[in-house]
This record gives sequence, C-alpha cells and structure tokens, in this order.
Amino acid sequence: MPGYVIANWKMYKTKKEALEFAEGLKDGLSQGGVVVGVSPAFPYLETLSNAFRGVDRVCVFAQNVAFAEAGAFTGEVSASMIEDAGAKGVIIGHSERRHVFKEDPSWMVKKIQLALDRELVVVYCVGETLEERDLGVGPEVVSRQLAEGLGGLEDESKASIRSKETLVIAYEPVWAIGTGRNMEPIEAKEAASLIKKNVSELLEGYVPPVLYGGSVNPRNIQGFAGHFEIDGVLVGGASLDLGRFLPLIKAFERA
Ligand code: 13P
Repeated sequence: MPGYVIANWKMYKTKKEALEFAEGLKDGLSQGGVVVGVSPAFPYLETLSNAFRGVDRVCVFAQNVAFAEAGAFTGEVSASMIEDAGAKGVIIGHSERRHVFKEDPSWMVKKIQLALDRELVVVYCVGETLEERDLGVGPEVVSRQLAEGLGGLEDESKASIRSKETLVIAYEPVWAIGTGRNMEPIEAKEAASLIKKNVSELLEGYVPPVLYGGSVNPRNIQGFAGHFEIDGVLVGGASLDLGRFLPLIKAFERA
C-alpha cells in the first residue's frame, strides 16, 4: 500500500502559480514510492491533470464533490465532471466543508459512493474539534464520522475498495488545521491505529492508508514519518511553496 503526501491548496494559487509549481515539482521529484497528490481549486483541475500527464507518481485531486450526479445544484461539481477533468481522486468531508460550509454528515456516504462509482480515489477526512477534544470524545467523534461515511456504502463498492485500494483516510484534528499547533505525532499514531481498526471492521478487512493533517511542516514532519501507522500527510499551508513541500515528500520516502 503506497504512502501519500497530498497538497491541499484550498482557495490559493492562480493558474500561473499552479503551473509554475507543477513544473518545479516535476523537476524536484526524485525516485520514490510515495504518491504525491496536488489538489487545486476546481477551475485548474484539468490544467494540472494535463501538466502531470505521464508523471505516474503525481495525482490530481478535487477538493470536494457534489452529493448528486446531476441536477439543479447551483455551484456544485459532480464526480463525473471531476473524472472528465482528468483528476485521479477527490477529498471528501474536509473540516472546512463540514464546519464553514455546514455540510451535513448524511451527505458523506452519498459523495463517497458517487466518487467510487466513477473509480475516483477517495480521501475521506475525519477529525474532532477542540471542544470535542476537551470533552474527551475525540475517538467517538472520529468513529461516528467513519461510520457515517463508510457504513452505508453498497457491498459492491466495499469490495472494490478492498480490491483496488481506492480509499484513504485523512485524520485532521480541526484544532490543528492552519493554527501552527500540530498534534503530537505519538497521539496521531494512536489515532491512526484506531482508524485502521475501525475501517477494517466497517469494510470487512480493508485497512486504509491513514494520513495526518494539521500544521504539518518541514520541522515537525520527521515525527509523523517515523511512525509506520501514519502513511502520509495532507498539507495546507506548507504545500503552497515547493521549498517547504518537497522536504515533506522526502521525509516519507526515507521512512
Ligand atoms: P494546514 O497544513 O495549513 O494546517 O492545513 C491542513 C489541511 O487542512 C489540509 O487539508
């Protein structure tokens, strides 16, 4: 099972900046087994998919997907459209979608199902808020989010996740995102183990790659890369410039 280092650019980078980054990334990558993901805003999915064509280890991910395949849903983008744009996968359930845009937990399974139907790789995000952490219910919140997203998938999709390894879980404690305050790697490792156990129960034996996300940077990356339970990272701020992103990839190649 490959490791993943994924850049979530959120609502940053112009087309010109995205293309410059793509060229720099291609030049800066050495041989290695880690899958490198880049997740730009929707308008640049196709541009970046084209920019990385032929570069096997770099994949393009969308940052979100609609809960329906088509219909009167102003502003939404379907799984088929994402597939058409050449993306390899999609991030679903990011905390900014859940908390800023008030996405309903009941949408998660629909989104995941539709993405899997298009054979997109799903990066499903889970994580507790600071309030939930302080209440000591972090693990329960994460288990509930996993069950909401995965429990109701069709049997055929569960089988396809097992055979094609098309599901990745990103554990992103909400309080660690964009705050400069990362979770201690040992704690993230424990959360990753619990997530693997939980998903394996929900998906009859499938143990997913688990990524950590939340204020990852070149200074703290070794702590995460040093635990084999953590299969990679989902990165916001530090993914915006190559000087900080390339060392994160290297850390997981050495690990
Ligand atoms: P930061 O790395 O900026 O904390 O963002 C994490 C994140 O939300 C990645 O999806």
